[in-house]
Amino acid sequence: MFKPFLTAHCVRCHGPEKQSGDFRVDDLTGDPAKDADRLLAIREQIRAGLMPPGRETRPDPADVRAIIAWTTVRTGGLAGRQPGQGNLIPHELLFGKPAPTAAATPGRLWRLSPDGYLGFLSDLGKNKALPGIVQPFTLEPERGIKDFAGLYTIDEPSTEILLRNAELIVEGQTARQNGVREFVVLMDPASPPTRAQLEAAVAQQFKMALGRTPGADDVTRFLGLYERCLKVSDSPGAVKTMLQAVLLRTDAMFRSELGKGTDAGGRRLLAPDELAAALSLALGDRREAGIMLAAQKGELATREQAAVHVRRLLDDPKFDKTRILKFFREYFDYANALTVFKDKPKTFVHEPRQLVADTDRLVLHIVAADKDVFRQLLTTEVSFVNYAVGKNKQTNQDEGKPGVVLNPNNNKGQQGIEETYGLDRWPAEQPAKLPDNSRLGILMQPSWLVAYSTNFDNDPVRRGRWVRDRLLGGSVPELPIGVAAQVPNDPHRTFRERLTVTRDARCWKCHSKMDELGLPFEQFDHFGRFRTTETVLDLEATEKNVDKKGKSLGPVTREAVLNTAGTIADSGDAKLDGPVKDPRAMIRKLADSERCRQVFVRHAFRFYLGRNETLADAKTLQDADRAYVESGGSFKALLVSLLTSDAFLYRSVPVASTTTTPGGSR
Ligand code: HEC
Ligand code: HEC
Repeated sequence: MFKPFLTAHCVRCHGPEKQSGDFRVDDLTGDPAKDADRLLAIREQIRAGLMPPGRETRPDPADVRAIIAWTTVRTGGLAGRQPGQGNLIPHELLFGKPAPTAAATPGRLWRLSPDGYLGFLSDLGKNKALPGIVQPFTLEPERGIKDFAGLYTIDEPSTEILLRNAELIVEGQTARQNGVREFVVLMDPASPPTRAQLEAAVAQQFKMALGRTPGADDVTRFLGLYERCLKVSDSPGAVKTMLQAVLLRTDAMFRSELGKGTDAGGRRLLAPDELAAALSLALGDRREAGIMLAAQKGELATREQAAVHVRRLLDDPKFDKTRILKFFREYFDYANALTVFKDKPKTFVHEPRQLVADTDRLVLHIVAADKDVFRQLLTTEVSFVNYAVGKNKQTNQDEGKPGVVLNPNNNKGQQGIEETYGLDRWPAEQPAKLPDNSRLGILMQPSWLVAYSTNFDNDPVRRGRWVRDRLLGGSVPELPIGVAAQVPNDPHRTFRERLTVTRDARCWKCHSKMDELGLPFEQFDHFGRFRTTETVLDLEATEKNVDKKGKSLGPVTREAVLNTAGTIADSGDAKLDGPVKDPRAMIRKLADSERCRQVFVRHAFRFYLGRNETLADAKTLQDADRAYVESGGSFKALLVSLLTSDAFLYRSVPVASTTTTPGGSR
C-alpha cells in the first residue's frame, strides 16, 4: 500500500529521474532503522498536507490517513526526540480507540535538573551559599517543556564542575565552623579515625546526598577507597576523598531509573530507592525523607503503596512541589514575558516580573481548588492584579498588598499595573473579578500576551502556533531558512492587515495553521491591555500636520476599527472547526473540547515522564485522561494516574534490535 502510494504521488518528483529537494522515495531499503529519517520526513510532509504540492492531484484522504498510521508504526511510534516534536503521533492513534496494554519506559538515567542540583546542594547542609559553587547543568533554551531524560548527559565540562563542587562541598562539611559533626571529628591527622567513625561518616554522607542509608557493600567499597587513599595522603585527606566520592555517585547526580526491581514478565519494576527518588523528583527538587524511608523499609513495592505516597506528597504542605508550577509555566510559557524587551511606555507602568508573578499565583490558586483545572485555567474570569503578600506590621499577619507601588517622582502621570488588567484601582479582594467581556484565563493574562509579542507588536503567528501545538495537538513545520518572515512596517495599517503577506500560497500552506488562531488576540495591545480599536498612523492628517513653513509637526494617529475574528480549521474535530468572533468565544470552545483536554494530558505526560509519548503509551494517556475526567477535573488525580502508571513504574528490558527483511512488508 505504501509503495503504490509513493509511486502514484511522489516518485515523479522524488525518483530516478528527478530528486526535488534532494529527496528520493523510490529506494527505501525496507529496514525501518535505516529508513527512519526518510519515513519521518515523508510522514511530516504528508501529515502537514505539504506534499504532493498544491497543484498536484490530491491523494484520497483515507489513503493519507492510512499512510500516516503506517509510517508511524514503521518508525516504532517514534516521536521526535525534542519535546517540541511531541505531537508527531496523530491524536486519533492515541485516543481513537481503547488501548489494550500500557507500555513500560526504557531504562534510563535522568540527569538532575539544574533546580534538582540546587536541592541536592541544600540537602548537604548549608552549602548552597558556599563561595565558588558553580551550577553544572543547564537546560535548552527552547520554549516549551525542557527537561527530557534523553536530552542531557553529563559531559566533560560538567564533570569538571561536579568534581570541583564536590571538593568545595566537602571542604565546607569538614570545616571546624558549621561543619558536619561526624566529619569534623575525623580531621585531626594525629588521631586516625576508627572503623566505626568511618562507617558513621559514610552513612551520614549517604543520608544527606542520597536520602538513604548505605548497603553493607557500599560501606565496604567506600572504606576500601579510604584505605587506598591512605597510601598517598594523611587520614583527613583520605576521608575527604571518600566523602567526595559519595557525592559523585551516579544515583546522586541522576535519577537512576534502570529498573533494578523485580522482574514482571519481560519488564522490571523500579527498585524501591529508584522509585522513591523518581517520585520525589517528579514533584519537587529534592529527595523527600518520608518516601525514601518507606523505600528502605520495603514499603514502596507496589502500585498501591506508590499511590499512597504520591497522594501524601501532594497533600503535604511541607514538601515543596516546585514541579507543579513549573509544568504550567512550561506548558503556557507565560514567563517568557520576562525576555521580551519593550520601550518604557509613557502613560503606564510595564513590569513583566509582576505580570508573571500574578499569573503564577492564579495558576496555583486554580490548582489548589483542583476542580475542572484545565477549563478553569483557560476560562477563569478572575485574576490576581499587581498582587504581593507582605506582613502587616500591626497584626504580624500575612496579607495582600500591591506588588509594584508607584513612585511619585519616577512615575509621574503614569497609571499603575492595575490599568493593564482594565481596572482603575487596586482591588483589595483578590483574585479579583475582571471587567465583563474583556479577558478569560491564562491566554488572556497580560503575561502570556506579552510573552507572545515582539518589541513593538503583537505576535499572532506564534500565538496561533501555541494554540495549534498545545491545544489542538497539531504541528507546523519549522519556518524554512531563507524565507523573508517579516510583516511590512506600515504603521498606517492594522497588524491584521500587515500580516496578509502570509496569505501568499507559498506561505499559507503553513500559516493557515497558525494565523487565524492567533488573530483573535488582537483584542489586546502588545502590553496585554484590552482595547476596542487599534491605533494606527493617520497618513493624511500627518501630512497636513505642518507649521507655516511646511515643517512636519510630528505624526498623527487615528483609531482603526478592530477585528477580533478568527477561524478554527483542520483541528481534527469537526465540532471545533468554524469561525469565532473573538478570543473569548474561541477559548470557550477550545476549553470545552475533549480533544484539547487530551492534548493537555499529553503535555503533562511528557513533562512528568520526561519523554515524548509513543503509540504504545495510548493506554497510559487514556487512563490519565479518564482519571482526570472522573475526578471532576482534578489535576492531582491526573498526577496520581501518571505517576503510578506502568510507564512510570516499569522499565522495559532492552531487546537486541531486530531488523526485518528488506522489503518485507512494503
Ligand atoms: C510536482 C513535484 C512533487 C511531487 C509530486 C512531490 N514533491 Fe516533494 N518536493 C517537491 C519539491 C520541489 C521539493 C523541494 C522544495 C519544497 O520543499 O517545497 C520537495 C521536497 C520534499 C521533501 C523534502 C522537504 C525538506 O525537508 O527539504 C520531502 C520529504 C518530500 N518532498 C516528500 C514528498 C512526498 C512524500 C511526496 C508524495 C506524497 C512528494 N514529496 C511529492 C516536489 C514534489
Ligand atoms: C514551512 C512552513 C512555513 C512557511 C512555508 C512559511 N512560514 Fe512563516 N513561519 C512559520 C513558522 C513555524 C513560524 C513561527 C516561528 C516560531 O515559532 O518562532 C513562522 C513565522 C513567521 C512570521 C513571524 C516571524 C516573526 O519573527 O515575527 C512571519 C511574519 C512569517 N512567518 C511570514 C512568512 C511569509 C511571508 C512566508 C512566505 C513567503 C512564510 N512565512 C512561509 C512557518 C512557515
